[in-house]
Amino acid sequence: MGLLIGAAGPHVDSAVHERRSFSANDTISARMLNHTDLAFRTALPNDLERMHGIRRAAILGVQADLEPRAREAWANRRRPDSFVGRVVGGEVIIASLAGEDVGWGSSGADHISALYVSAAYARRGVGRALLTKLEAAVAQRGYELVRLESSVNAVSFYERLGYVQSGSLRVDGSLPMVKRLPGPAREPTTPTSSSG
Ligand SMILES: CC(C)(COP(=O)(O)OP(=O)(O)OC[C@H]1O[C@@H](n2cnc3c(N)ncnc32)[C@H](O)[C@@H]1OP(=O)(O)O)[C@@H](O)C(=O)NCCC(=O)NCCS
Repeated sequence: MGLLIGAAGPHVDSAVHERRSFSANDTISARMLNHTDLAFRTALPNDLERMHGIRRAAILGVQADLEPRAREAWANRRRPDSFVGRVVGGEVIIASLAGEDVGWGSSGADHISALYVSAAYARRGVGRALLTKLEAAVAQRGYELVRLESSVNAVSFYERLGYVQSGSLRVDGSLPMVKRLPGPAREPTTPTSSSG
């Protein structure tokens, strides 16, 4: 996903499609997340190293059938300063759980450009919560359709959260996806009173 999703996906083996089923433990750990412990902030330049560490921990923990070398190559594709433009532009949201930074994502215009959750904190609802924040930012900029390019391992995650495929698999292994955002709340229309 940029997010890579723009350019961050494995892009290594387009045959890697993770659609694993979930164990009882996954469900329990998801329930364990106390959302009152989850906090969000806009990233600052002194967060760049931390963001890089989270991204690395997220990618190296991907469960899909990815060779360790492929994971390492994906993780090494960016450096801390690769995200400086997005940080300076105020595009990056960091999620912390009980005071620890565990995930981050970014968006610009109608595009979600990154989403990472440290593998140690996966499947607890952090990714969903971050994505909701990013979608709200896209909606606030006036867009009704949000788009991203998913790495193959994350396609099921995005489908779960309402995204649908919007194009064919790209040569870099990413899949374009879109989601329609709920429109702005409309004032109830008041019937025009007819003067008689
Ligand atoms: C993809 C990623 C952001 C998901 O974050 P997460 O915090 O584990 O996701 P959540 O716990 O919020 O999951 C939300 C829902 O999606 C499901 N889900 C999460 N990962 C999934 C996967 N790989 N396949 C299928 N469903 C998945 C969860 O079970 C949950 O469903 P439920 O609420 O109905 O039980 C995280 O795994 C990650 O950082 N991966 C590596 C980097 C990456 O691929 N980023 C995205 C594309 S570049």
